[in-house]
Amino acid sequence: MCGIVGYVGPQDAAPILLEGLGRLEYRGYDSAGLALSAKGGLKVRKVSGRVADLAADLPARFKGAPGIGHTRWATHGEPSETNAHPQLDTAGRIAVVHNGIIENADELRAKLTADGVEFASQTDTEVVAHLVAAAFAAGAGDLEQAVRQALRQVVGAYGLAVLDAEHPDRIVVARNGSPVLLGVGEKEMFVASDVAALIGYTRQVVYLDDGELATITAGGYRTYTLDDRSTAKSPSTIDWDVVGAEIGDHAHYLIKEIQEQPRTIERALKGRIDERFATAHLGGLNLTVREAREIRRVKILGCGTACYAGELGAQLIEDLARVPATAEAASEFRYRNPVVEPDTLYVAVSQSGETIDTLAAVQELQRKGGRVIGIVNVVGSTIARQVDGGIYLHAGPEMSVAATKSFTSTVAAFALLALHLGRIRDLSPEQGRRIIAGLLALPGQVAQILEQEDAIAEVARGIATSNSMLFVGRRRGWPVAREGAQKLKEISYVHAEAYPSAELKHGPLALVSPEMPTVAIVPDDDLLDKNTSTLSEIKARKGPVIAIAHRELPDLADRTLVIPRSEPELDPILLSIPLQILAYHAAVALGRDVDKPRNLAKSVTVE
Ligand code: G6P
Repeated sequence: MCGIVGYVGPQDAAPILLEGLGRLEYRGYDSAGLALSAKGGLKVRKVSGRVADLAADLPARFKGAPGIGHTRWATHGEPSETNAHPQLDTAGRIAVVHNGIIENADELRAKLTADGVEFASQTDTEVVAHLVAAAFAAGAGDLEQAVRQALRQVVGAYGLAVLDAEHPDRIVVARNGSPVLLGVGEKEMFVASDVAALIGYTRQVVYLDDGELATITAGGYRTYTLDDRSTAKSPSTIDWDVVGAEIGDHAHYLIKEIQEQPRTIERALKGRIDERFATAHLGGLNLTVREAREIRRVKILGCGTACYAGELGAQLIEDLARVPATAEAASEFRYRNPVVEPDTLYVAVSQSGETIDTLAAVQELQRKGGRVIGIVNVVGSTIARQVDGGIYLHAGPEMSVAATKSFTSTVAAFALLALHLGRIRDLSPEQGRRIIAGLLALPGQVAQILEQEDAIAEVARGIATSNSMLFVGRRRGWPVAREGAQKLKEISYVHAEAYPSAELKHGPLALVSPEMPTVAIVPDDDLLDKNTSTLSEIKARKGPVIAIAHRELPDLADRTLVIPRSEPELDPILLSIPLQILAYHAAVALGRDVDKPRNLAKSVTVE
């Protein structure tokens, strides 16, 4: 989704802004632009296309500071140079970059048009530039006052940054529902919508809250509210390595992140396992043992891959803690006036911590008095700060749009939560030790699966030519199948549909033919016989079968990808790794834009 960067200081802003925008590319976008404050007024450049196109398009003398930059993911108006940000007022004095949606844009546009303003773009953002200009025309004394007056008329979600040619020492930023953070440097300041943009420049950041504004100058920052009450804030330190966000020798971030999983799973477990009492310590939950014992139900909410990880989490909690647990798409939950119960623990899952539907579900729950914990990767993100406690994944930056390492880390985090809830109930120490041993073995087992990349790539090239595929699994294999189908369709654009194995004969079996391959999740557990009969049904209709299993299935599958066995509750983590590699190599074979699939964004911050 859209990204914002800004710089105030002694250096030339353009190279810094371009680097920041480059680091935000992973979020998904369709156009990009910059505005700089220079002698004689603002300099603006925009392109419909990539940040690299913008960099190539800049004239040699495109110099100045402060400056603001943007990557846009079209909502109001098609992707085009005119609709790209920054958006300007008529005189070209005010430049605005904006993430989010201004809900009363049509109304404000009509009012401004009646006052004689001519609009250049179809965007909602342009309204803000004209409103700031109008505030000056009506006598606003400084940029802060003009922006506050403008924003008082705006209804909707925004993270925005405003540059004014007449105040060339500052940028004014504001947040309401869309993240904005300040980066504190040595006699220079930065603005971004995502910490990734600041990597390499500073680790000192200040997160703005909803309803807050800030003025940044080379000398520092001041934060305040719409009615100009000061909100003093001190910076916090981010702990991500630059290395974590660099692509290194890898062809794509996606394969880098798939290969990181032995280490990222290890980090999710680190310092959280208590061998003595065969349990897990999760200090961030902010739940006393007594409170945790009183939980009668667990409800997990997330979107996309986060929701599928939640479905596995629900099964882990039911299996190990015997507490009824379900997962649901946060986007559905928030709109159906959910019943919120005091003895239910709500768990919001989000890699980015910024997904608007998940955040809205959290806010709705808290409004009704629900207790919500988060399983989040990005430290200090909006959901992480909104929830009552939680578990950080510590998986490092996930740059590719398709989630991989955050999926397996989330399931590992759920295993810890289930172990913790189980051991304060009826899970025996022996069972606790069994799960711990299983968890500790995972990184080595994931590494073994990664060694099979070439063999999996060969299978992937075979399926890449299919028009459509089925993914089937049972019980824990069912969310694995859903996530496998999701990975394939989002990055390779091959249509893939997931079904619970037993449901096959209630409909989709009609589709099975030599042209329709099925990927079957077949762990060697108590349901093996049931799963093998599903495979026989497919084979009888001459459907090609690729099995992900713990041993060869010669008569039932055309290809079996054999993976190491974990504890049955933890098998899904290992079963999902070949599916990630399969999707990656199918996408590569088809020449897709693997890290930035069409129409998708990394964190969906608009509805
Ligand atoms: C987007 C991404 C998905 C991701 C989902 C939830 O749709 O493309 O990969 O699973 O958002 O993101 P979150 O950051 O909340 O986990």
